[in-house]
Order: sequence, then C-alpha cells, then structure tokens
Amino acid sequence: MSQKKLKLGVLGLGEGRSIISAALESEWWELVRICDINEDLCKQRTAEFNFPHYTTRFDDLLNDRTIDVIGIYTPDPLHASHIRQCLEAGKHVICTKPLIDRLDSAKDLLDIGQKSGKYVYVGQSTRFFEPMIRQRADYESGRHGELYSVEAYYNADNRWFMKRDWARNGGLKWLYGGLSHPVDLVRWYLPDIAEVMGYGTLTENGRSLGLTDPDAMHFVLTTDSGKIARISGHYSGPYGNSDRDSSMSCILRGLKGTSQADYSDLRYSTHFTGEGMVQYNFNHLAGYYFRFGGKSHHAGEYQNYIEHFAKCLAEGKTPKPDIAEGIGTVAVMRAMEVSLQTRKPVTVRSILAEHGLEFLMNS
Ligand SMILES: NC(=O)c1ccc[n+]([C@@H]2O[C@H](COP(=O)([O-])OP(=O)(O)OC[C@H]3O[C@@H](n4cnc5c(N)ncnc54)[C@H](O)[C@@H]3O)[C@@H](O)[C@H]2O)c1
Repeated sequence: MSQKKLKLGVLGLGEGRSIISAALESEWWELVRICDINEDLCKQRTAEFNFPHYTTRFDDLLNDRTIDVIGIYTPDPLHASHIRQCLEAGKHVICTKPLIDRLDSAKDLLDIGQKSGKYVYVGQSTRFFEPMIRQRADYESGRHGELYSVEAYYNADNRWFMKRDWARNGGLKWLYGGLSHPVDLVRWYLPDIAEVMGYGTLTENGRSLGLTDPDAMHFVLTTDSGKIARISGHYSGPYGNSDRDSSMSCILRGLKGTSQADYSDLRYSTHFTGEGMVQYNFNHLAGYYFRFGGKSHHAGEYQNYIEHFAKCLAEGKTPKPDIAEGIGTVAVMRAMEVSLQTRKPVTVRSILAEHGLEFLMNS
C-alpha cells in the first residue's frame, strides 16, 4: 500500500479494546498510544496486545503531534467534551455511538468542527457487519426497488453492562445506547424521518440495577413522503431463541423485494422478484468479526469502519456518518424520548428547531 498510514490514539480502553485490535490488524493504520484514567486497565491492554505505549493523561494524546486521529470510547456523557478537545487540538475524531446523548452541545460542536477543518466520524459499528454490508450493496444496486418500509430492532440481555459506575449512576439511557444501532440503520435508509411515536417501560429488572429510563421500547416513525419504519429494543431480560430470531435485525421492504440482515448471527436473507427466497450465511467470517469476549465484542466491524474512514480520506471524501448525520440521528432519538414522555407523536423538525439546528433536517 503506497498510502501513508493514519496514526491513531485511543481514549477509553473498555470498548476501546476493539479499535486497538482493529488498528493493529489494519494495513491502513498505525496505533501510536492508548489512554485511560485507569492505569490497571492500561497495563491490562498493553499486555493483551503486546503494545507498550500507554498514558493515563488525555493531554498526552492531544499534544502528540504525530497523532492524526483520536478514537473516543469513553462513557456516553463525556463524548461531547472529548470531541471538542480533540477538534481544538487539531485532531480528526472517530467517536463511538452514541455521538452525543443530548443536543445542548450540538450547535457548538458543529461550529468547532467546521472551523477546525477536521472530520468527526461516528463509529456506527452495525453498518459494518457483513450481513448489513451485503444488504446495503443490494439496496444501492436497486434490487429492492423503491423502499416503503424499514424495520430494525436490537434486543439483548445487557444487564451485564450495568456493572459500570457511569451506567448505574444515570449516565446510560438505553434509548441512546443500544437503540442508537437500529435508529442509525433506519436513518441510513430513510434519512428524512419526520415524525415519531412510541411507548416504553422501565422493567423491574432494569430499575433494580439502577436504570431510571425505559429499557423496553417500541416506536413507529414516518417520513414526510409517507414511508414508514418501526424500531424496538429490549435490554434487561433474556432475548429469545436465536434460531427463530436475531439480537439485531434490519428488514427492508421495497416494491421489488424484501431482505433481512441479522446480527450477531452472520445471516442474510433475500426475496427479490423473480429470484425466490435465498438465505446466506457468513459463518466462515466469525473469527474476523468476533476476536475476544465471545459475541459481546465485534472488532471486525471496527476494522471495517476505520478502514472506510482511511479510504475516504485517501480519496478526498467525507467519511460518513459524519457529525451532521450523527447529530441528525441524535435529534431523532431525542424526538423518540419526548414521545415516550408525552405519549404523543413528536416531529424531528420541532426538536431541531429547539436547538437552532433546522438546517440539519434530512442530513
Ligand atoms: N457497538 C458499539 O459500537 C459499542 C459497544 C459497546 C460500547 N460502546 C460505547 O463505548 C463507550 C464506552 O463503553 P464501555 O463499555 O467501554 O464502558 P467502560 O466503562 O467499560 O469504559 C470506558 C472507559 O473510559 C475510561 N475513562 C473515563 N473517563 C476518562 C477520561 N476522562 N480519560 C480517559 N479515560 C476515561 C474509563 O476509565 C473506562 O475504562 C460508550 O459510549 C458505549 O456506548 C459502543
């Protein structure tokens, strides 16, 4: 490869473990230094990856002139301030989902991003899972015909996640955490989601673990042109039989065909006009996608998304989802949250307007 490798610093070494693995395996990237305020965890990662360069000071990444890009994998409520600091230090940013978990800082981040001339790219990992990649390719080649409906859900027994202090102490809302995956999938196909309506409940399982917001939710959504979508998520109980269902799924229905892409099963099925039903499985890629921690970590998706980022830069293109698209998705999630609270339909435009972000409608 003649292209110069991008140099990466990683902040937050819990889920940050996946981007460390991705960068070390990729010919597009060079890992420079990893950072966490927890020194024991730094040492654990340096041993795990046989990679010696760690620091407990974020400033060491920000001030390192050799670093081009910082990957942010800190708790959700810290993303906004960490993105801002990276941009002010002249770094590109790859930030895990959710990009931010409230919109107060959105306008400010957009302005700083624009002034800095640096990219902010959202690590929406599910887009980069094999079945979802195949489904997108079929969609882009027109095999579905015109889409009229998208269904996406993410159901998982994520009670283990609540051992994190920040999650137990009000820092986690599953609407922005887990549900950001299916919301992103729906917006990938229907960027012009205009109105949402939903119901949710906080289960006793979730409440007893410290959650204060719903951990089980159903939503319906529509675009201005009348296309429809459905999004669901359940996070605090056993999720069902994987022969019958998947933890995460995206179903596209178009005038010429329907398809379903599944996670974490490497399954994809299609029914296009004139072709009959076809079921694909990509189990031979399990070792690439799932490298440690069973299926609770999925470093292959991270490798796909950081390589997408690097290729976009090499071709002079903006890597997507970018900051505008990411904030648009957060605005849809905020509309969903307000709908849960008011038990009424909520327009995305009203949420954007409240934050001086109307210009982002459909972006
Ligand atoms: N599929 C996905 O893309 C995916 C999956 C899991 C988690 N995530 C996201 O990753 C983020 C982190 O989740 P996690 O499960 O790793 O949580 P975690 O609590 O295990 O890890 C967060 C780490 O950040 C460190 N940290 C906190 N503040 C810091 C600071 N100021 N400077 C340096 N380090 C700091 C903590 O010490 C901790 O080790 C969350 O936003 C979560 O939503 C994404």
